[in-house]
Amino acid sequence: MKLLGPFTQIVTLRGLPEKGALKDEALEVIKNGGVLLHNGRIQAVGGFESLVKMYPEATVEEITQPTVLLPSFVDCHTHTCFAGSRANDFAARNAGKTYLEIAAAGGGIWSSVSQTRACDEQTLFELTLGRVERFLQQGIKTLEIKSGYGLDLENELKMLRVIGRVQQRLGAKARLVPTCLAAHIQPKDFAGSQEAYLEWITAELLPQIRTEQLGQRVDIFVEQSAFGLAESRQFLPKAKALGFDLTVHADQFTAGSSTLAVEMGALSADHLEASTEKEIHALAQSDTVAVVLPGASLGLGEPFAPARKLLDAGASVAIASDFNPGSAPMGDLLTQAAILATYQKLNTAEVLAGLTFRAAKALKLREIGRVEVGYTADLQGYACADFREILYQQGRLKPYVVW
Ligand code: NIG
Ligand code: FE
Repeated sequence: MKLLGPFTQIVTLRGLPEKGALKDEALEVIKNGGVLLHNGRIQAVGGFESLVKMYPEATVEEITQPTVLLPSFVDCHTHTCFAGSRANDFAARNAGKTYLEIAAAGGGIWSSVSQTRACDEQTLFELTLGRVERFLQQGIKTLEIKSGYGLDLENELKMLRVIGRVQQRLGAKARLVPTCLAAHIQPKDFAGSQEAYLEWITAELLPQIRTEQLGQRVDIFVEQSAFGLAESRQFLPKAKALGFDLTVHADQFTAGSSTLAVEMGALSADHLEASTEKEIHALAQSDTVAVVLPGASLGLGEPFAPARKLLDAGASVAIASDFNPGSAPMGDLLTQAAILATYQKLNTAEVLAGLTFRAAKALKLREIGRVEVGYTADLQGYACADFREILYQQGRLKPYVVW
């Protein structure tokens, strides 16, 4: 048993609901707090001095500087496994080229597919490991990572194996959640219709992923430039019938696919920049988590998703980085969440909930994302005396210690 403390403040996030708008007054802040850890779980939370008395046998890890303790963050939507760069796309976009012009000129998702296919497994492993280690330093312990830059049997499996190897290498330090995003775009070298490609995924790729136990989640990019609503409506139930949990890249440029995600019982609908009242209402009435991705808005110069409206309507809103080489190259979740908060008027409780237990819900993970008895001991400490400093510094203040 290990007792950590004393912390200037512990922001526990205890008691906050999984859905809807929150009030900062509802945040529990324990002053001079301590946390008792046992077997990777939280066994007690409270005042440090009283925990010292109650658990004299515990080994104390003394905190000697002003520190705010938070649960570790959960990044529930990333494309961290990729090779190469799309700096050329970024520059061209800022110079006025459109998404479609860039794709037609050989850029876009297909460019990352080509670069990732050309990368050998060991190099891809090293690239991915390095990026995951950077996330860990930033207080993100749980990280979803998608495939989707392979788009054929060999390369989709290569990506998912790499994610599995990174997990093995990092052991208990990280919790990686792999997702198959073979339905990212239809690969240029697939001879056949969209339906035929999606049929290939369910008939060939997903069973192999099952056999090798490389993941339990399936994602699809529903968009004019990717997969149509009708095709997606055929595909998602088949993936579900094979035992996969669903998530959807929805309403990024055109509204309409998040209602499909809800209809299909998807764990989450992600992006939502283009969602209208209809989609907001459907998400709010459902158990599907609305995942907003401010990093994609910042990378593309597009509007933010209507996070305020989603919360006010009653949705569960999570915030994720969407870290990827095309639309969201920054990969700094805390900075992005802090910026989103200023534009969408999200209070501290709503942002912290969206970065922790609500994001864990999108990954179907329980007992993650609060400093609470029985929860996993995923914790991070910031060198400040007031928890509001963390968002105030807009991402500049990073955790100095993680557990
Ligand atoms: O989440 N929207 C589709 N997929 C990614 C972009 C991936 C890419 O451009 O490489 C996204 O933004
Ligand atoms: Fe994405």
